[in-house]
Amino acid sequence: MGLLNSSLTALLPLFPERAVRPFAMRYVAGETEGDAFGIVHELNQSGFSATVDILGEHSESAEEAGEITDSYIRLYEIIEDSSLDCNISVKLTHLGLGHDDALAKENLFRLLEMAERRQNFLRIDMENSPYTDATLDLYEQCKMKYPSVGPVLQAYLKRSGDDLQRVLPGSPNVRICKGIYREPESIALQDLGEIRDSFINLVQTGLSGGAYIGIATHDTYLIDTLETWISNRQIERTRYEFQVLYGVPMGDRLERLLDGGHKVRIYIPFGAEWYAYAMRRFKENPKIISYIMGNWFKA
Ligand code: FDA
Repeated sequence: MGLLNSSLTALLPLFPERAVRPFAMRYVAGETEGDAFGIVHELNQSGFSATVDILGEHSESAEEAGEITDSYIRLYEIIEDSSLDCNISVKLTHLGLGHDDALAKENLFRLLEMAERRQNFLRIDMENSPYTDATLDLYEQCKMKYPSVGPVLQAYLKRSGDDLQRVLPGSPNVRICKGIYREPESIALQDLGEIRDSFINLVQTGLSGGAYIGIATHDTYLIDTLETWISNRQIERTRYEFQVLYGVPMGDRLERLLDGGHKVRIYIPFGAEWYAYAMRRFKENPKIISYIMGNWFKA
């Protein structure tokens, strides 16, 4: 079955959008701001916080990066005007990093100016390892002027313990996740058990060191272990939140976290670039691919 799934994964790019769309829309709020904020509103009503992300990365021109920044700025306006419990997550390559780093910085500061004016927060997603240094450098530069910004550290990267120590003195708001990109063994842990240990260690070190931590995982072993640790240590509820991606099946675990008084934030991606994002989600859960194939043949 594993071999079958990996063969199907290799075929994924051949699937037409119309076959993929019904499955993609489980993980993506839709194509427009209206689609995304409709879902944010519903989730807020049920007690969940949200973060929205405009799908896409690696803007290829100054115009594209500028337009994306403008779109993000508009999101802050809607969030405040509609009184939503929602912040924003952004990828720096979408703002121009890698194409024109000075422009990316300018766009990032423009966005943070608006986040501050609207009393909101900006999460800088972490991309693959060629961007780790530049992302953390930019984070440190803007954190001095705008406190409401936070980075992401990936538990699979061997450097993340050092990176956490580097940012800890600034009382940061850090999201910890396992890491989604394929990275070489020279810089990244490959063993699930080691990645879990690293994740736990980063969360515990961050919380003990005064950081606010976003615990971003669907792994119930990690959620259970950290919930128990937090409770034993009597860590205040205002010091952390659990975070999951929209659409990933969690049974009633999220409702139980809310019932236990924990904050839970749902990451909601939307936008025209839904196809590439959905492909990444499917690669994480290849069982879905056989359903897509069924749908494709029926289409
Ligand atoms: P794991 O992969 O072990 O999954 C646990 C269980 O959940 C499994 O049963 C699995 O099948 C299921 N599951 C997990 N993901 C699924 C999916 N997409 N679809 C269906 N089932 C799924 N990465 C990164 O490099 N940079 C970043 O900035 C972020 N940001 C981020 C924000 C938030 C809120 C989350 C939850 C995750 C990220 N990630 C990320 C992704 C993260 O690094 C990681 O790849 C995924 O969360 C999967 O790892 P888990 O810890 O969930 O465990």
